[in-house]
Amino acid sequence: MRSPHVDTAKPMPSVCRWQDLPGPRTRWWGLPLLREMARDYLGQAEGLRRTHGTLVRTQVVRERMLDVYDPALLRELLVEHHEALVRWERGPEVFAEVMGQSVLVAEGAGWQRLRRVLMPAFSSRRVPSYAGLMGEAAEAHLRSAAGVQDVGLLFSRITMDVMLRALFGQALGRDGAQVAADVQTLSEAGFREMFWPVTLPDWLPLPGKAAKRSALKRLRGLIRDGLANPSAGSLAAGLRQARSDHGESLSETELRDQCMVSFQAGHETSATALLWWSALLANHPAEQRCLREEVDGTLQGRAPSGQDPLPRLDASLKEAMRLYPPVAALLTRRLLRPIQLQGLALPAGLLLRFTLHTLHHDPSLWDEPERFRPQRFLPGAAPPPRGAYLPFGVGPRVCLGQHFAMQEMQLVAAQLLQRFALHPLSGDAPPVPRLRVTLRPLAPLRLELRPRQDAPAAR
Ligand code: HEM
Repeated sequence: MRSPHVDTAKPMPSVCRWQDLPGPRTRWWGLPLLREMARDYLGQAEGLRRTHGTLVRTQVVRERMLDVYDPALLRELLVEHHEALVRWERGPEVFAEVMGQSVLVAEGAGWQRLRRVLMPAFSSRRVPSYAGLMGEAAEAHLRSAAGVQDVGLLFSRITMDVMLRALFGQALGRDGAQVAADVQTLSEAGFREMFWPVTLPDWLPLPGKAAKRSALKRLRGLIRDGLANPSAGSLAAGLRQARSDHGESLSETELRDQCMVSFQAGHETSATALLWWSALLANHPAEQRCLREEVDGTLQGRAPSGQDPLPRLDASLKEAMRLYPPVAALLTRRLLRPIQLQGLALPAGLLLRFTLHTLHHDPSLWDEPERFRPQRFLPGAAPPPRGAYLPFGVGPRVCLGQHFAMQEMQLVAAQLLQRFALHPLSGDAPPVPRLRVTLRPLAPLRLELRPRQDAPAAR
């Protein structure tokens, strides 16, 4: 067996079965591990990698798990062995409550069909056609953004607005803050419930259930209203007519579920990436200056298109997603049948955990992993080891919206830099990341957006 890279003193045993791999000694059937997972998921994953290496065996009651922190093995599992894997059941069970039978939740032939129908709408060829609506949404919210801002809320409003314009051709209404709060309520509830053995009905008088019920009702209403009258040329109108190469189409329920998943998965992730990017820039003024110069020099005051040659800006967004991957963890899969992984025999039923945050901070894969160094992603820089940088996942279930997200983020970031200089607020502590479904800050992040006096005149 190829020895996975292990940066601890412990050598890999020369045996090749799951039960012989290194892992923590557990008491009480491993239940303390589960408690720690719910309390500090990322801290636990990092601790396991540091202490036990890149393949770590854990067990909670009868559930046998393997943490994979080796980039090559992780890639091999998600790409070559993808047919032997399904999503960990608790993920889809929890997500299905909000997103129904969407592409994010489905498996097997059903998932393939949905993916085929949706793919053209999110392809790299189609995405440039959304630049106009992305620019309008950014402009609508940034126009009046001068001053102290809760940037999490600001970026959520922008990316929700982008998604609603793309899906239905309708802008976000005045209830943007309420919708953002509802999305957060559902994320909190989803994360909490993922660690329960079953989902208890929402009508039960349990903590958080009433808030979840009302949030879900309002979000469903938002999607229902959008679907009632989508404008011609919108994604929803297109998906209603869409046929895959195989002639497949969507039912009305499927259409509703895909709209819900695009809205949810498609805005919170991009907003989270922009949030951490802005926090990093506010605290790295030299880098911010450099990006402003690039944006001013390339755009000369014209509106960005999302496809502009702005390599330093793209590198800074990628580096922000390395340090703070929006989907930092919970890419968990169940093995349907036994497989051989580079000589390691893995049994059917094993749960595989992939934690992108740990991979992106591994000192054996990255120089100075905790430093913000966008140069790593500039054209011509040595690429990271294969499989070490996966903010959008990898394999057939790679993010459907990755081209959409990259264009949207470049466009919003460029507009922001054209208008404002970002400053941290003196007295505010640096933001602390906390895993919910995405990687959010523990407390709202406030920054000062100071209007620029030196920007080139708009053309
Ligand atoms: C910075 C922004 C984004 C990040 C970091 C991100 C990340 C990810 C990751 C890591 C996965 C794979 C999860 C897994 O393998 O279990 C994923 C899947 C997915 N993403 Fe994204 N995403 C982003 C934006 C978007 C956008 C804008 C959309 C839609 C417009 C979208 C829609 C989806 C969908 C539908 C899936 C499920 C695909 C499938 O299972 O076939 N995402 N995303």
